[in-house]
Amino acid sequence: KRNIVILISGGGSNMAAIVRTAQQENWEQRYGARVAAVLSNQADAAGLLLAREQGIATGALDHRAFASREAFDAALAAAIDRHQPALVLLAGFMRILTPDFVARYAGRLINIHPSLLPAFTGLHTHQRAIDAGCRFAGATVHQVTAALDAGPILDQAVVPVLPGDTAQTLAARVLSQEHLLYPRAVRALVRAL
Ligand code: GAR
Repeated sequence: KRNIVILISGGGSNMAAIVRTAQQENWEQRYGARVAAVLSNQADAAGLLLAREQGIATGALDHRAFASREAFDAALAAAIDRHQPALVLLAGFMRILTPDFVARYAGRLINIHPSLLPAFTGLHTHQRAIDAGCRFAGATVHQVTAALDAGPILDQAVVPVLPGDTAQTLAARVLSQEHLLYPRAVRALVRAL
Protein backbone atom coordinates (compact mmCIF):
# COMPACT_ATOMS: atom_id res chain seq x y z
CA LYS A 1 0.00 0.00 0.00
CA ARG A 2 1.41 3.36 -1.02
CA ASN A 3 0.05 5.69 1.61
CA ILE A 4 0.16 9.43 1.09
CA VAL A 5 0.04 11.85 4.04
CA ILE A 6 -0.68 15.51 3.25
CA LEU A 7 0.25 18.38 5.59
CA ILE A 8 -1.74 21.62 5.39
CA SER A 9 -2.13 24.86 7.33
CA GLY A 10 -5.10 26.52 5.65
CA GLY A 11 -7.60 26.23 2.84
CA GLY A 12 -6.23 22.97 1.55
CA SER A 13 -7.23 23.53 -2.06
CA ASN A 14 -4.10 21.76 -3.33
CA MET A 15 -4.81 18.84 -1.00
CA ALA A 16 -8.39 18.73 -2.31
CA ALA A 17 -7.14 18.74 -5.91
CA ILE A 18 -4.89 15.75 -5.19
CA VAL A 19 -7.69 13.88 -3.40
CA ARG A 20 -10.11 14.59 -6.27
CA THR A 21 -7.62 13.48 -8.93
CA ALA A 22 -6.76 10.31 -6.99
CA GLN A 23 -10.46 9.43 -6.85
CA GLN A 24 -11.24 10.33 -10.46
CA GLU A 25 -8.26 8.40 -11.78
CA ASN A 26 -8.68 5.53 -9.32
CA TRP A 27 -5.11 5.72 -8.02
CA GLU A 28 -5.93 3.10 -5.39
CA GLN A 29 -6.66 0.40 -7.93
CA ARG A 30 -4.12 1.54 -10.54
CA TYR A 31 -1.16 2.32 -8.34
CA GLY A 32 -2.14 1.06 -4.88
CA ALA A 33 -1.89 4.67 -3.73
CA ARG A 34 -4.29 6.48 -1.45
CA VAL A 35 -4.41 9.63 0.64
CA ALA A 36 -4.35 8.05 4.10
CA ALA A 37 -4.37 11.18 6.25
CA VAL A 38 -4.41 14.97 6.22
CA LEU A 39 -2.66 16.66 9.14
CA SER A 40 -2.58 20.34 10.06
CA ASN A 41 -0.79 22.59 12.53
CA GLN A 42 -4.00 24.68 12.63
CA ALA A 43 -7.02 22.94 14.17
CA ASP A 44 -9.38 25.29 12.30
CA ALA A 45 -7.83 24.76 8.85
CA ALA A 46 -10.72 24.62 6.37
CA GLY A 47 -8.98 21.80 4.55
CA LEU A 48 -9.47 19.45 7.51
CA LEU A 49 -13.25 19.63 7.04
CA LEU A 50 -12.88 18.96 3.31
CA ALA A 51 -10.75 15.90 4.04
CA ARG A 52 -13.16 14.58 6.66
CA GLU A 53 -16.03 14.91 4.19
CA GLN A 54 -14.07 12.58 1.93
CA GLY A 55 -13.70 10.04 4.71
CA ILE A 56 -9.98 10.72 5.13
CA ALA A 57 -8.38 10.52 8.58
CA THR A 58 -7.40 13.95 9.88
CA GLY A 59 -5.38 15.28 12.76
CA ALA A 60 -4.33 18.64 14.16
CA LEU A 61 -1.25 19.47 16.20
CA ASP A 62 -1.01 23.05 17.40
CA HIS A 63 2.64 24.08 17.05
CA ARG A 64 2.13 26.72 19.78
CA ALA A 65 1.57 23.94 22.33
CA PHE A 66 5.17 22.73 21.92
CA ALA A 67 8.22 24.15 23.65
CA SER A 68 10.47 23.95 20.59
CA ARG A 69 10.47 23.35 16.86
CA GLU A 70 12.17 20.00 17.56
CA ALA A 71 9.38 18.92 19.95
CA PHE A 72 6.67 19.89 17.47
CA ASP A 73 8.40 18.11 14.61
CA ALA A 74 8.86 14.95 16.71
CA ALA A 75 5.14 14.86 17.53
CA LEU A 76 4.27 15.57 13.90
CA ALA A 77 6.55 12.74 12.76
CA ALA A 78 4.87 10.35 15.21
CA ALA A 79 1.43 11.30 13.82
CA ILE A 80 2.67 10.87 10.24
CA ASP A 81 4.40 7.53 10.91
CA ARG A 82 1.15 5.93 12.10
CA HIS A 83 0.19 5.90 8.42
CA GLN A 84 3.52 4.50 7.17
CA PRO A 85 3.55 6.85 4.21
CA ALA A 86 5.42 6.32 0.97
CA LEU A 87 5.02 10.05 0.34
CA VAL A 88 4.58 13.06 2.61
CA LEU A 89 3.22 16.10 0.75
CA LEU A 90 3.40 19.68 2.02
CA ALA A 91 0.42 21.58 0.59
CA GLY A 92 0.31 25.08 1.99
CA PHE A 93 2.02 23.85 5.17
CA MET A 94 3.41 27.07 6.59
CA ARG A 95 5.99 25.78 9.08
CA ILE A 96 9.73 25.52 8.59
CA LEU A 97 10.79 21.94 9.28
CA THR A 98 13.86 20.88 11.28
CA PRO A 99 16.78 19.08 9.58
CA ASP A 100 15.95 15.90 11.57
CA PHE A 101 12.39 15.90 10.27
CA VAL A 102 13.53 16.46 6.69
CA ALA A 103 16.15 13.69 6.98
CA ARG A 104 13.56 11.24 8.33
CA TYR A 105 11.52 11.57 5.13
CA ALA A 106 14.43 12.03 2.74
CA GLY A 107 13.40 11.36 -0.83
CA ARG A 108 9.69 11.11 -0.02
CA LEU A 109 8.99 14.65 1.26
CA ILE A 110 7.55 16.95 -1.42
CA ASN A 111 6.45 20.62 -1.41
CA ILE A 112 4.62 23.00 -3.71
CA HIS A 113 5.90 26.56 -3.67
CA PRO A 114 4.12 29.51 -5.35
CA SER A 115 7.00 30.80 -7.49
CA LEU A 116 9.27 29.70 -10.30
CA LEU A 117 12.11 28.47 -8.11
CA PRO A 118 14.94 29.23 -7.63
CA ALA A 119 13.41 32.72 -7.79
CA PHE A 120 11.48 33.96 -4.75
CA THR A 121 11.96 31.43 -2.01
CA GLY A 122 10.10 32.20 1.23
CA LEU A 123 7.02 34.38 1.63
CA HIS A 124 5.15 37.06 -0.39
CA THR A 125 6.25 35.49 -3.66
CA HIS A 126 3.58 37.12 -5.84
CA GLN A 127 4.15 40.69 -4.65
CA ARG A 128 7.90 40.21 -5.05
CA ALA A 129 7.46 38.91 -8.62
CA ILE A 130 5.30 41.95 -9.47
CA ASP A 131 7.75 44.36 -7.83
CA ALA A 132 10.65 42.81 -9.76
CA GLY A 133 8.82 43.38 -13.07
CA CYS A 134 8.59 39.67 -13.87
CA ARG A 135 6.59 38.88 -17.03
CA PHE A 136 6.05 35.32 -15.85
CA ALA A 137 5.30 33.70 -12.52
CA GLY A 138 4.23 30.25 -11.49
CA ALA A 139 4.62 27.39 -9.08
CA THR A 140 7.17 24.66 -8.43
CA VAL A 141 6.87 21.14 -7.03
CA HIS A 142 10.16 20.09 -5.48
CA GLN A 143 11.76 17.64 -3.12
CA VAL A 144 12.24 19.06 0.33
CA THR A 145 15.78 19.30 1.62
CA ALA A 146 17.14 21.04 4.70
CA ALA A 147 17.60 24.33 2.78
CA LEU A 148 14.31 26.27 2.46
CA ASP A 149 12.60 25.94 -0.94
CA ALA A 150 15.83 24.72 -2.53
CA GLY A 151 15.44 20.98 -3.14
CA PRO A 152 15.50 19.29 -6.57
CA ILE A 153 12.73 20.56 -8.87
CA LEU A 154 10.23 17.94 -10.05
CA ASP A 155 7.84 20.05 -12.12
CA GLN A 156 6.71 23.63 -12.72
CA ALA A 157 3.76 25.60 -14.11
CA VAL A 158 4.08 29.05 -15.69
CA VAL A 159 1.52 31.86 -15.90
CA PRO A 160 1.84 35.38 -17.33
CA VAL A 161 2.00 38.41 -15.05
CA LEU A 162 -0.56 40.80 -16.56
CA PRO A 163 -0.68 44.60 -16.47
CA GLY A 164 -2.61 45.70 -13.38
CA ASP A 165 -2.02 42.46 -11.52
CA THR A 166 -2.06 42.62 -7.75
CA ALA A 167 -0.63 39.95 -5.47
CA GLN A 168 -4.21 38.67 -5.13
CA THR A 169 -5.01 38.39 -8.84
CA LEU A 170 -1.65 36.81 -9.58
CA ALA A 171 -2.00 34.38 -6.65
CA ALA A 172 -5.38 33.24 -7.97
CA ARG A 173 -3.95 32.65 -11.46
CA VAL A 174 -1.02 30.68 -10.03
CA LEU A 175 -3.21 28.69 -7.62
CA SER A 176 -5.51 27.49 -10.41
CA GLN A 177 -2.41 26.08 -12.13
CA GLU A 178 -1.14 24.56 -8.88
CA HIS A 179 -4.33 22.47 -8.87
CA LEU A 180 -3.22 20.85 -12.12
CA LEU A 181 0.50 20.81 -11.38
CA TYR A 182 0.55 19.14 -7.96
CA PRO A 183 -1.71 16.18 -8.87
CA ARG A 184 0.32 15.67 -12.05
CA ALA A 185 3.61 15.64 -10.14
CA VAL A 186 2.26 13.28 -7.47
CA ARG A 187 0.83 10.96 -10.12
CA ALA A 188 4.30 10.68 -11.66
CA LEU A 189 5.74 9.86 -8.23
CA VAL A 190 3.19 7.19 -7.28
CA ARG A 191 3.59 5.52 -10.66
CA ALA A 192 7.33 5.29 -10.03
CA LEU A 193 6.99 3.91 -6.48
C1 GAR B 1 -0.50 27.61 -2.24
O1 GAR B 1 -0.42 28.70 -3.14
C2 GAR B 1 0.89 27.05 -1.98
O2 GAR B 1 1.72 27.06 -3.12
C3 GAR B 1 1.38 28.02 -0.94
O3 GAR B 1 0.27 28.27 -0.11
C4 GAR B 1 -0.92 28.10 -0.86
C5 GAR B 1 -1.79 27.09 -0.13
O4 GAR B 1 -3.07 27.02 -0.69
N1 GAR B 1 2.48 27.47 -0.22
C6 GAR B 1 3.44 28.20 0.35
O5 GAR B 1 3.44 29.41 0.34
C7 GAR B 1 4.52 27.40 1.05
N2 GAR B 1 5.50 28.27 1.62
P1 GAR B 1 -4.01 25.79 -0.32
O6 GAR B 1 -4.02 25.64 1.19
O7 GAR B 1 -5.38 26.20 -0.83
O8 GAR B 1 -3.48 24.58 -1.02
